[in-house]
Amino acid sequence: MSRHIDLALIGGTGLYRFPGLEAAERHAVDTPYGHPSDSVVVGRLGGKRVAFLARHGESHTIPPHRVNYRANVWALHHLGARRVIGVNAVGGIRADMGPRVVALPDQIIDYTSERLTSFCDVAGAEVKHIDFSEPYTAALRKDLLAAATRVGVAVVDGGCYGATQGPRLETRAEIARMRRDGCDLVGMTGMPEAALARELELEYACIALVANWAAGCGDEAEISLPEIFANLEAATAAVPRIVTAMLD
Ligand code: HPA
Repeated sequence: MSRHIDLALIGGTGLYRFPGLEAAERHAVDTPYGHPSDSVVVGRLGGKRVAFLARHGESHTIPPHRVNYRANVWALHHLGARRVIGVNAVGGIRADMGPRVVALPDQIIDYTSERLTSFCDVAGAEVKHIDFSEPYTAALRKDLLAAATRVGVAVVDGGCYGATQGPRLETRAEIARMRRDGCDLVGMTGMPEAALARELELEYACIALVANWAAGCGDEAEISLPEIFANLEAATAAVPRIVTAMLD
């Protein structure tokens, strides 16, 4: 059933469709793990076949802890994708990861709980212990970085993504602990997506868009949602520029 797809994108908060996808078709994929968050849109971008899936659904109805990560990743693989980019809204912890920064993390710490984290946990499945020392594919990160540089989009190369359960934001104490642990960014959707991609031997990298300072990292007493959305909208504009340049 699958034809080659040059690149697949999983859009996070603020990215519900991919601008410029031509002659797009919608694929409602049924998977052994249930339904993906929405149909997968497959179209052409700069002469290449690109797939797009909205992680929270196109009208953002699925919270981070309810996303069917397994169905999403499986559907993209099934349609022929071998390279996947996850776009994730995050809070910034490290001093150079302030609002509107675009970062390409290179490490993850997983603080999530009660999510279905593996394709191996169904009866009869082969048990796989993937190597996850480097959770993101180095070659894909390098391509993203080179593309960003070519089009003049500033990105922070590297950083540790701390994945929290959500949907609530974190306490200051939780963020202080995450900082001590070595986290530079905090988000709710980076895991188990990255690990599931590795189980299916997909190349996978993350474009993290900083929406706000994480709790206690900025001057604000509280994190304001309108500000999160304004920052995200500004940072999201970088994504099609980087991706289009990468496909050139
Ligand atoms: N914490 C967790 N996830 C997030 C945040 C945050 O501060 N901002 C955007 N996604």
